[in-house]
Amino acid sequence: MSHPGERPNLPVSASRIAADIDKLAEITEPGRPWTRRAFSPLHREGRAWLADRFQAAGLETRIDASGNLIGRRAGRLPGSGTLMLGSHSDTVPDGGRFDGIAGVIAALEVARSLADAGIQLDHDLEIVDFLAEEVSIFGVSCIGSRGMAGVRPPEWLGRQAEGMTLAQGLVATGGREAPDPARQDIKAFLELHIEQGPVLETEKRDIGIVSAIAGIARIEIVIEGRADHAGTTPMGARRDALVAASKLVLGIEHLATDLSRQPRHFAATVGEFAMLPNAANVVPSNVRMLVDIRSEQRDDLDRFAAALNDLCISVAEKDHVDVSPRRISDAPAVRMDDGIGGMLANATESLGGSHRQLASGAGHDAAFMARISRAAMIFIPCLGGRSHAPEEFAENDDIAFGAAVLLETVRALDRQISE
Ligand code: GLV
Ligand code: MN
Ligand code: MN
Repeated sequence: MSHPGERPNLPVSASRIAADIDKLAEITEPGRPWTRRAFSPLHREGRAWLADRFQAAGLETRIDASGNLIGRRAGRLPGSGTLMLGSHSDTVPDGGRFDGIAGVIAALEVARSLADAGIQLDHDLEIVDFLAEEVSIFGVSCIGSRGMAGVRPPEWLGRQAEGMTLAQGLVATGGREAPDPARQDIKAFLELHIEQGPVLETEKRDIGIVSAIAGIARIEIVIEGRADHAGTTPMGARRDALVAASKLVLGIEHLATDLSRQPRHFAATVGEFAMLPNAANVVPSNVRMLVDIRSEQRDDLDRFAAALNDLCISVAEKDHVDVSPRRISDAPAVRMDDGIGGMLANATESLGGSHRQLASGAGHDAAFMARISRAAMIFIPCLGGRSHAPEEFAENDDIAFGAAVLLETVRALDRQISE
């Protein structure tokens, strides 16, 4: 939704936001826009550029133990707590230019606009680029926000990918193996994000005020069959891991489709899949796949997981393979702070915009920040609801409007918390 001419007096700079998002988009795998995966050299390059931008905005900049890039603007009342704004700069493979990035740059723009206007808040303001919000090469997501909230499982540090452990990846990013204690000083966390769905665009609303973030669980399934000659091994004598995996994928689709027929949000996807030895003349011996499950209600997730377990047992028996499912992450659905939601609505109206409440089917760092702080999110419209694809697009005016809503809300929160 672009409103040319309707928003002449926003207290933020739309052109600065556009320039930053364009610049960050240049830091991508060449020929594979837009890819800047956490723990890659490109991610570190993007981070270095962002750190410069944070510093240029006068922010005291550091990377915390959990690998989050943080820029701080001191408040007038030292020790009175922190207001935090941010999102993430890592992308999925072949992802978009706005998922996460819009939220980091909008947060930075809030800090810059406060500085331009000579406004010092009572509370410290921190701008954050969380590490690895997307499912990373280690098969797990929201590594930085879980770390900040003190809920990153310690056993994750030993997870291996691309010749390194997560612990080594953290250190290479500027973090540390030993986590800092969970932050206690954060009074409120706000995140702007593209909607990644079609509702705001369809209804022509400027802002979605997020009511809740769906729970997300990920189940890794490893199937061990047996490698054999593809030309000579009789069809009835095979232990084909890929055939067994295919039955599981179809079963997962069937189970999830059934559960999604209720009014509550439910979705499950096999989005990550690898097989060995992946050769034309060898019966596949091993498959690893990752099932991503989104559920508004715990019961639905539990029913799905139990049915999937039964399916794994029956496929293992029929196809003479070993099937080992393992839940590697499990985050419950999280409600956002209603009080801040009301303040976001007021700010939107005071700037002349429209809003509605929305639940998020996508995961966000705000879900983990809600463990240690009041947390709230706004969505801005994105074209056709497309996301996690190169076609992802958001109008710069819409991002700037969202940044202005953040700015007004941060100022209101700063006053409210001081009262
Ligand atoms: C984050 O993008 C997610 O997987 O929902
Ligand atoms: Mn995101
Ligand atoms: Mn994403």
